[in-house]
Amino acid sequence: MSAQRACAVSELEQDTPLLVELDGVPIALVKDSDGEIHAIGDRCTHGDISLSEGFVEGKTLECWAHGSAFSLDTGMPLNLPAYEPVPVYIVQIDGDDVLIDPTVTKEV
Ligand code: FES
Repeated sequence: MSAQRACAVSELEQDTPLLVELDGVPIALVKDSDGEIHAIGDRCTHGDISLSEGFVEGKTLECWAHGSAFSLDTGMPLNLPAYEPVPVYIVQIDGDDVLIDPTVTKEV
């Protein structure tokens, strides 16, 4: 499998997660306040809650349900109740396209 188009760079608003689904894999895309684009698994590991409905704070994405914040860089939860990481994906930019391979997660 190779990287595929997830969305346009111009579709991403700063600190506003965008949910995409690639090959059945739900992924939250986040452009942070530094302009860096992150791709993180959309399902909270505490409950089956969509993280793209949560809140971006710096380099974290916080689940709205019980407040676990996940690192956008590593997928690790930084506080309870979640204790298992979510996957993070490598983001490639090609012109105005955001490309992700949903079968390959970042080694962190
Ligand atoms: S469902 Fe996300 S912290 Fe509980």
